Amino acid sequence: MATTTPIVPKHVAIVMDGNGRWATKRYLPRIAGHKQGVDALNRCVRACLERGIAVLTVFAFSSENWNRPSDEVSGLMDLLLLSLSREVSSLSGNGVRLHFVGDRLRFSEKVQRGLMQAERSTAANQRLVLNICFNYGGRWDIAQAAQKLASQGEAITELSLDRAMALAHVPDPDLLIRTGGELRISNFLLWQLAYSELYFSDKLWPEFDDSELDAAIAVFRTRERRFGQTSAQVAGPDNNPNSKVA
Ligand code: IPE
Ligand code: IPE
Ligand code: MG
Repeated sequence: MATTTPIVPKHVAIVMDGNGRWATKRYLPRIAGHKQGVDALNRCVRACLERGIAVLTVFAFSSENWNRPSDEVSGLMDLLLLSLSREVSSLSGNGVRLHFVGDRLRFSEKVQRGLMQAERSTAANQRLVLNICFNYGGRWDIAQAAQKLASQGEAITELSLDRAMALAHVPDPDLLIRTGGELRISNFLLWQLAYSELYFSDKLWPEFDDSELDAAIAVFRTRERRFGQTSAQVAGPDNNPNSKVA
């Protein structure tokens, strides 16, 4: 029988939510939850490599997260730099190519340099693309893409916008996972999630493990992706689903 849903999604996107609650439940400072969140991300990257997932895109810091208390924001910036210094060489050894996605202009010089170095040193890797969305917002992404086209005098079409978006180097996510129990997108990939399958987990991000990922993939495999077609068309021999704009 023809099926449109591959065994593993090619591109998984994750809203890694629930770090603060994980820490608060344990009477720990919120930053302790964010540190556990980095460990959970490392585990998840390993699991994606083992399962042959080609692209992992994670939401690590949103445009709106600047509104948090300043000690949490600066703690997250420090954690980003610390994690880069600790993790980049082993990520690179495992064939992971890093991309930082988001508006970098608001970061300190030091953070900007760190991101650039991490991207450069992993640029030749091909096993897994890891997009870390940091100071990212879906609305920012659409606006920056439109501004880029306007400044180049290019027509704004679905195709040209798609190519100007911050994730133009990868196909759209097949599967979006959000942990932490909230049923919302929170300004994540507004454009790119148009036809992604959505999966919400009550687990807090630091608790997310291989079995959680497998549960999400198992649900993904039960979904029929129709991209606007009928079920009969999707099952038919000349089915050619396409999540990208034509
Ligand atoms: C997600 O966890 C990480 C960031 C937004 C930086 P939260 O920090 O939002 O955790 P909760 O939702 O407060 O538990
Ligand atoms: C979304 O989580 C952003 C990240 C996980 C980085 P939030 O915790 O910021 O989302 P809201 O505020 O609950 O919508
Ligand atoms: Mg949250």
